[in-house]
Amino acid sequence: MDNFFPEGTRVWLKENGQHFPSTVNSCAEGVVVFQTDYGQVFTYKQSTITQQKVTPMHPMNEEGVDDMAALSELHGGSIMYNLFQRYKRNQIYTYIGSIIASVNPYQPIAGLYEHATMEQYSRRHLGELPPHIFAIANECYRCLWKRHDNQCVLISGESGAGKTESTKLILKFLSVISQQSLELSLKEKTSCVEQAILESSPIMEAFGNAKTVYNNNSSRFGKFVQLNICQKGNIQGGRIVDYLLEKNRVVRQNPGERNYHIFYALLAGLEHAEREEFYLSVPENYHYLNQSGCIEDKTISDQESFKEVITAMEVMQFSREEVREVLRLLAGILHLGNIEFITAGGAQVSFKTALGRSAELLGLDPTQLTDALTQRSMFLRGEEILTPLNVQQAVDSRDSLAMALYARCFEWVIKKINSRIKGKDDFKSIGILDIFGFENFEVNHFEQFNINYANEKLQEYFNKHIFSLEQLEYSREGLVWEDIDWIDNGECLDLIEKKLGLLALINEESHFPQATDSTLLEKLHNQHANNHFYVKPRVAVNNFGVKHYAGEVQYDVRGILEKNRDTFRDDLLNLLRESRFDFIYDLFEHVSSRNNQDTLKCGSKHRRPTVSSQFKDSLHSLMATLSSSNPFFVRCIKPNMQKQMHTHLDRGDQVRNQGRLFLAWSGQPVEEKLRLSPGSRQGGRV
Ligand SMILES: Nc1ncnc2c1ncn2[C@@H]1O[C@H](COP(=O)(O)OP(=O)(O)O)[C@@H](O)[C@H]1O
Ligand SMILES: [Mg+2]
Repeated sequence: MDNFFPEGTRVWLKENGQHFPSTVNSCAEGVVVFQTDYGQVFTYKQSTITQQKVTPMHPMNEEGVDDMAALSELHGGSIMYNLFQRYKRNQIYTYIGSIIASVNPYQPIAGLYEHATMEQYSRRHLGELPPHIFAIANECYRCLWKRHDNQCVLISGESGAGKTESTKLILKFLSVISQQSLELSLKEKTSCVEQAILESSPIMEAFGNAKTVYNNNSSRFGKFVQLNICQKGNIQGGRIVDYLLEKNRVVRQNPGERNYHIFYALLAGLEHAEREEFYLSVPENYHYLNQSGCIEDKTISDQESFKEVITAMEVMQFSREEVREVLRLLAGILHLGNIEFITAGGAQVSFKTALGRSAELLGLDPTQLTDALTQRSMFLRGEEILTPLNVQQAVDSRDSLAMALYARCFEWVIKKINSRIKGKDDFKSIGILDIFGFENFEVNHFEQFNINYANEKLQEYFNKHIFSLEQLEYSREGLVWEDIDWIDNGECLDLIEKKLGLLALINEESHFPQATDSTLLEKLHNQHANNHFYVKPRVAVNNFGVKHYAGEVQYDVRGILEKNRDTFRDDLLNLLRESRFDFIYDLFEHVSSRNNQDTLKCGSKHRRPTVSSQFKDSLHSLMATLSSSNPFFVRCIKPNMQKQMHTHLDRGDQVRNQGRLFLAWSGQPVEEKLRLSPGSRQGGRV
């Protein structure tokens, strides 16, 4: 290349495989100094600079472009730079072909979501106004009539990127145009289901969201909200499907994180009389709330949320009695967590007050509760055998009770919401998917395995949809993809979900009472060691790895079988079924037990489904719904890791990756792979 760089030349500088928009600061005596737009300075000997290292930047619009498909150079760097230029001017939305990218502003932007804005977007076609989530929602709505099929919006992005906010904005927009359509058909009765659907958010967030280190209002479950729209255009009803609530959080939180919002809201907002009746005080006094060292957050008003959630429950027609039952159950869980044990010939309850209170609030007999927590009861040929538990086992029993109570209560709440918003589905539907993004932590457990499996499935859907469109376009233009293999993640999915795949083996082992996590690992290794997408660690550890589309993840097998079985001991289940309160009894009425003789005899068909097999089924049913729908994709992007507005996009690796990441919508660094055949059009559009 021409190794002369006049000062001020705009170039793309490639560092660690990524393109940085840069300016030549100086070029003298054979040394060139580059300054990136993100503030870093790099110095190179002029003679060492290759064409790969530095490419002249195509003159581009300093304002950035609305649709990145129009960028003359398309790579991770240019995408990121375009987002950055727009973000600086509070333009958080940008199209990239048929996808919309949304960069989290972490602060309200004046006028962005006002009623007038919604009106405006509802009257114009996609592309006529600046990019906006409302434009996507509007197009999605219009497509119901244009295309005569169901529509869906898939929202992806890492925790805290803005998925749940985007979901709510779409719901709000649809609710407004739904009501507009009602005005047109005057006498049409409104059930005000729109209002109910909007009010479901505060309830679901109170019970299913928590403060984490990534997001103060992090959804700890996935959800699919489906709206049924009638021919005339208004929302007739809806349905919410929830996925994989993080149960562990009820009993344990990482440092700096909190339990579910509802617990703090309860303590902050409850009236005096009920507070006394439930023996409640301040969060600092509860083990389930005080372990993580994080009780409050200045961005969260627990008192306000309490009011909000109670009002929402009223709108959703939860009866006063039902609300009370739920709150009492939550109080019962808090006291349960305070039960402590000491060793005295096996575990003994050392804090009787907490035991008495939780027994009372859960409608249980205190002696029976004590027994169930400190000894295991099993029936063998009609005879009861009691085994004393040690302190750790007693703590585990206590925690498993708390988790089961909370999880069942969450399900009950969702069911209740669904019964309120249920409506006719006589025309078409719009589904909105707000689901956890791909996760790869230091240690990954069963939860991450399921989450990443879901993401793998969604990526497959995305690939099929977007790349089949793209390919169509390219083949029409006579262009060929250089390397198309990477697009297909089918083999990795086969490894997970096909016959004798990882899921099948995990399930099989879960049904053997003698199986352990190590026998599982051995089976996995034996079956899949030679699979290209499976990673058997060289040294013997408790891990197996999977090469996902978004990168390799190591999973720790410890605890997988127990979590997958998800049964808690029969004697604990029986205890809850003896609750004086119908509410508690009803929650557990249909839970099948682990060692039920009948279920064992019936063979595999009637076995209680494991967590992963249920999840697989619900995922497949979701995919069937999505596959028969016309999709829209929203990619949420987090500008920095500080949960706040910054004047610029952070330039950590993480963020740089995002530009490339969202070429693949939800995952993979694909910059290099997007190249087309030599001589063909530069770059590709996703
Ligand atoms: N469009 C937006 N405008 C303003 N703030 C936003 C927007 N999207 C997200 N936020 C902020 O970011 C936080 C995290 O967003 P959230 O939707 O909960 O993330 P996710 O669901 O992806 O984990 C929100 O609580 C809000 O403060
Ligand atoms: Mg969320």
